Order: sequence, then C-alpha cells, then structure tokens
Amino acid sequence: MRILAVETSCDDSAVALLEDSSVIAERIYSQSIHSKHGGVVPELASRQHIEILPGLVKEVLSESGINTLREIDAFAATAGPGLVGSLLVGLSWTKAAAFASGKQFLGINHLSAHLHTHYKGPDSVKFPAVALLVSGGHTCLFNIKSWSHAVLLGSTRDDAAGEAFDKSAKLAGLGYPGGEALEKAAIGGNPDNISLPSPLSDPTLPEFSFSGLKTAVRLQWESGANLADLAASFQKVVVDILVSKLLFQADRSDAASILAAGGVTANNLLRNRLRDECEKRGISLFLPEKKYTTDNAVMVGRAAFAVLSEEPTARSSLSCNAFSRWSGTILKALCCTYKSMLL
Ligand code: KG4
Ligand code: ZN
Repeated sequence: MRILAVETSCDDSAVALLEDSSVIAERIYSQSIHSKHGGVVPELASRQHIEILPGLVKEVLSESGINTLREIDAFAATAGPGLVGSLLVGLSWTKAAAFASGKQFLGINHLSAHLHTHYKGPDSVKFPAVALLVSGGHTCLFNIKSWSHAVLLGSTRDDAAGEAFDKSAKLAGLGYPGGEALEKAAIGGNPDNISLPSPLSDPTLPEFSFSGLKTAVRLQWESGANLADLAASFQKVVVDILVSKLLFQADRSDAASILAAGGVTANNLLRNRLRDECEKRGISLFLPEKKYTTDNAVMVGRAAFAVLSEEPTARSSLSCNAFSRWSGTILKALCCTYKSMLL
C-alpha cells in the first residue's frame, strides 16, 4: 500500500512516500528563519510551509517514480496538536489531494505519530509497553496495550522537557533550538559541581514539572556558573527524572517493551541511560533513529499504515479540522472518523 504522508505541525515541513511501513522517498525542510527570533514565530512558520510544501511533494513523487496522485492509495496528514496555522497548510493540501484523486484521507494525531515511528507491522513491538514521548511541546508517559490502545499516565504540569532545554540554552546564549547546543555545551562539564533542584522527582508520580528547573538554571547562570558544569547538571537532572519515572511505570506494568520518541530522544545521555537500564532488565527498547527523533512525515505515514492494517477502510472526514491541543486520556492515531463527504 502506497501512502503519501505530510507533516507541518510546527517548524518542519515534511513529506514522505511509504510502501506499507517502508520509506520510498522523503524530504524534510527545517525552517531556520526562527532562530534569530529565539523561538518559533507561528505566522512565519505557516508562510514557509505554504512556500516549501509543494516543492517537497514534487521531489518525493519524482524520486518515487510516481506520475499522478492516483497511483497513491491513501493520503495522511497531521491534524494536531500543533500550531493551527501551520497544521492547516499540510492538512488542506492533503485533504484536497485525497479528494481530487478519490482516495482515503487520514488525519493523524501528532503524538500518536511520534510513537508510531516504531511501527513496522502489527507484531513489531511486544506488548504491554510503556512509552515516553518527550519533545519541545510534550512530555508524556503512556501505557500501551496494543497499537490502537495507548492510555495517558501523566504529562507535564508546565514546561515540556524540550522546552526547558530550549529556554535554558537561550538564556545561556546558545541560540534556538537549544537542545543539541546544550548537550554539546555539557561535554566535559561536571554535573556534581552545581546542584539544581529536581522538581516532582518522585518516580511513582507519572507527572513532570520543568519550569522551576529552568528558573534555577537562570539564577546559577546570573551568578556566574561555569557553562559546561551548568549544562551537565541540567541535563543530568532532566534525564534522571525522565528515566526513573519511565522505569517505574515499566516495572509496575511488567512491560515487555519501552518505546521512546520525540526530539529530546536525540540526547545521547538519555539514549545511553535507557539502553543500559533496559539491558539490565531484559526489556526491549525502541529508540528512534536520530533523524526520526524530531518531527518528520515518516512517522505520520506509519501511523496511517497502522490504522489501515487494522481497518483497511478507515478514513477521516474531510471536515477533520486542525487542533492546537490534545486533552484526552486514550490516544488514537486517527483524529476524526469518516461521517459524510459533505460534513
Ligand atoms: O519532536 P520535536 O521535533 O518537536 C515537537 O514536537 O515539539 O522536538 C523538538 C525538541 C526541541 O525542544 C529540541 O531542543 C529538543 O527536541 N532536542 C533535544 C536534542 N535535540 C533536539 N533536547 C535534548 N538533547 C538533544 N540532543
Ligand atoms: Zn513532535
């Protein structure tokens, strides 16, 4: 089955063509325009998606040897959560393409898409599993009973972990986005030289809070702390919190697998800690390839393929709208289901 997938939820424009879960061609354009503003400017992001998306689609189709949209079996786009203006660009293009070619359209939940980075077929992961979704916008723990049944255990009460990386990096003059820069700055630093608070660190609590930590970093920075030590201490506190909470839930539910996804899973300290802990416990660990940690269209295509593998006629209504926040407890890949073409 050929799926054309589109992702425009924030500041990455991405298109991928998949044959089932395998990638035939993909393009991603990460908007650099925002770095001089120290964060994503929503209106600029939407305008860049409008400019960039058609070219990416053309390149993906031409590399795949596809001459007409009718050769595609299903179309999928992220519907939310994300920046509504950005989402609307990819969503509108994809709905129009599906309608014009008379094929299925699937509106995909961005959080579910991140988890489906690991979907290679119904048996690719052993359940029960727990998942850590950790990005610039979200920090969530899920209990996963099957690919179509993920239950939210808890999320952040304030800043997401990636947001805390970004804000801490920004105040230390490391630019935006700051996760990777802060990780580099931590090389050679001694985390024990600077003591930072560890908010909501009780591993039994499946909730997170990172905004106080960011404030503590600011106070240390203003009082002249060494950058490498401060970055190393910050990174260690965040990784300790993420890993301890994830492992507590894995032990509690006797998980066979741990899934990790989202931009912060590019962090090497987090990746290494997860590898070590899962090896000790004999739990299968699913970490995305580095290029699929941040937003991409392959994960959207895999989420669509998972839905279609379970229910081949599944489709979203063409009235499926963009949405900024997800506030449920059961995470589904499909944002809305088909009612009527006229709705
Ligand atoms: O998943 P993603 O592309 O976007 C959202 O859906 O939010 O994640 C982006 C986030 C940013 O906050 C970025 O700073 C963080 O992932 N990030 C990292 C690293 N690389 C990216 N955080 C820590 N260490 C990294 N190496
Ligand atoms: Zn994301």
